[in-house]
Amino acid sequence: AQLSGFVVAIDGPSGSGKSSVSKQVARTLDFGYLDTGAMYRALTWWCLEEGVDLADEAAVIDAAEAFPLTIGTDPDAPTVEVAGHDVAADIRETRISTQVSAVAGVIPVREIMRRLQRRLISEAGASRGGVVAEGRDITTVVAPDAPVRILLTASEEARLARRSKELHGHDGAEAVAATRSQIVDRDKADSAVSQFTVAADGVTTVDTSDLDFDGSVAAVLQVVAAARA
Ligand code: DC
Repeated sequence: AQLSGFVVAIDGPSGSGKSSVSKQVARTLDFGYLDTGAMYRALTWWCLEEGVDLADEAAVIDAAEAFPLTIGTDPDAPTVEVAGHDVAADIRETRISTQVSAVAGVIPVREIMRRLQRRLISEAGASRGGVVAEGRDITTVVAPDAPVRILLTASEEARLARRSKELHGHDGAEAVAATRSQIVDRDKADSAVSQFTVAADGVTTVDTSDLDFDGSVAAVLQVVAAARA
């Protein structure tokens, strides 16, 4: 089935500024916003909560099939709840960041999530006229038919500096080194299941290495404006 509304699909690695930029683009356009990474993180949280062994793929698939997720698509209130628990803060914890790849790497789990993501995109698109959806496989698998598909990239150096500021409050050498193992390792683990370092056919690359936040938002809005014109 076709997705409802105008879909802006944005993929990119961690530290590309993808989430904050996507959220701001959604606000500016008065669109809905879907953070698909938050969904994989919330599922990981749920598996750990339920005592599911993440190495047991069948058990992880069972958890995904009965996943009691409620996710808000309002960019001003992107809520994430699992079985009534507000997990928005918990899913950013290091224990989740280091284990989420194990969950996101299970192919049947990705199929379940893709169906859910397409439904959420359609609902938000129908109610707001459009939606910005971000993740790792939105431009290629979840919404390959979207009128706007963007790969948001940044040099490894720029991504590490940004994540370091998020995690440690600054980008001094030691903080960057501590951030490096987390980011580089996770990107490596993720690239096994989702291709995001090279733009797929028809996907526009926006390199934010030399752009600040406002500049990155403006660059994405420009791609959207060109597609809507
Ligand atoms: O963007 P993030 O750091 O919140 O993503 C969390 C994890 O989920 C990361 O390991 C990549 C994975 N992910 C994915 O496989 N597919 C998506 N569409 C979004 C995220």
